[in-house]
Amino acid sequence: MAIVDLQGITRTYRTGSVAVDALRGIDILINRGVFASIMGASGSGKSTLMNILGCLDQPTAGTFKLDGEDVSTFSKNKLANVRNRTIGFVFQSFHLLPRTTALENVELPLLYSDDNLSWKEIHRRAMNALEIVGLADRAKHNPNELSGGQQQRVAIARALVTEPKMLLADEPTGNLDSRTSLEIIDIFQTLNKEGLTILMVTHEHDIARFSERIITLRDGLIISDRKVEPVQAKTALVNWKEQDAVVIENEVNV
Ligand SMILES: Nc1ncnc2c1ncn2[C@@H]1O[C@H](COP(=O)(O)OP(=O)(O)OP(=O)(O)O)[C@@H](O)[C@H]1O
Ligand SMILES: [Mg+2]
Repeated sequence: MAIVDLQGITRTYRTGSVAVDALRGIDILINRGVFASIMGASGSGKSTLMNILGCLDQPTAGTFKLDGEDVSTFSKNKLANVRNRTIGFVFQSFHLLPRTTALENVELPLLYSDDNLSWKEIHRRAMNALEIVGLADRAKHNPNELSGGQQQRVAIARALVTEPKMLLADEPTGNLDSRTSLEIIDIFQTLNKEGLTILMVTHEHDIARFSERIITLRDGLIISDRKVEPVQAKTALVNWKEQDAVVIENEVNV
């Protein structure tokens, strides 16, 4: 079944007398377990679409069914619950709390959930999420003591800790160098192989080709939606090392 079913979604922003049609009629079906990219020029409506998918914003018109349920019928409580645990968010600028350890950042969504988990359980789940992203040994570090890639991994752990059904990532590699971007995408591919649905906004075609479907927006409309054979980040990382090794060898020969 489709985890996301969008029909005729529009979003008009009104600021005073000015109206901006950020989305002008979007239909998308996304099945569970898919890793899809959303591309398009700046201002084409990608973040607007992500905000609607994340239930952070509501469309002006159209229907959005999340896992078969019409989101417009959700109560405030249910919406908060969906944002807290059905969906995980990752942003370009990490959005970690400063002066708060990696572990505490990851624990945060569990403090806001209504499960009444014990401190011990919260701690255990957060450590587990940090282990998944390979950062258990940095649990006590504050964000300013971590590299950009490590901060993004903490943000991914925070998104995963509530075991969401879907991960929404808006330019997750936008602030990272290409090698670190590959490492982040490798984590996404691993999570996706375990069944997590991932929707990722990116400007870069080189990043989009690691997903299996590329949806492109222009001026609030979908101009293309195609399936592709995804490149494997693990292979790209291995090749990357070989490339570096060749360069080093050449330098030695000179
Ligand atoms: N809160 C807002 N109020 C008014 N207009 C907005 C608002 N948010 C976005 N817009 C407008 O809606 C359009 C789509 O914006 P959106 O942020 O979705 O684009 P984007 O594809 O994410 O761009 P970028 O790649 O730069 O992040 C733009 O014309 C933008 O100026
Ligand atoms: Mg954007």
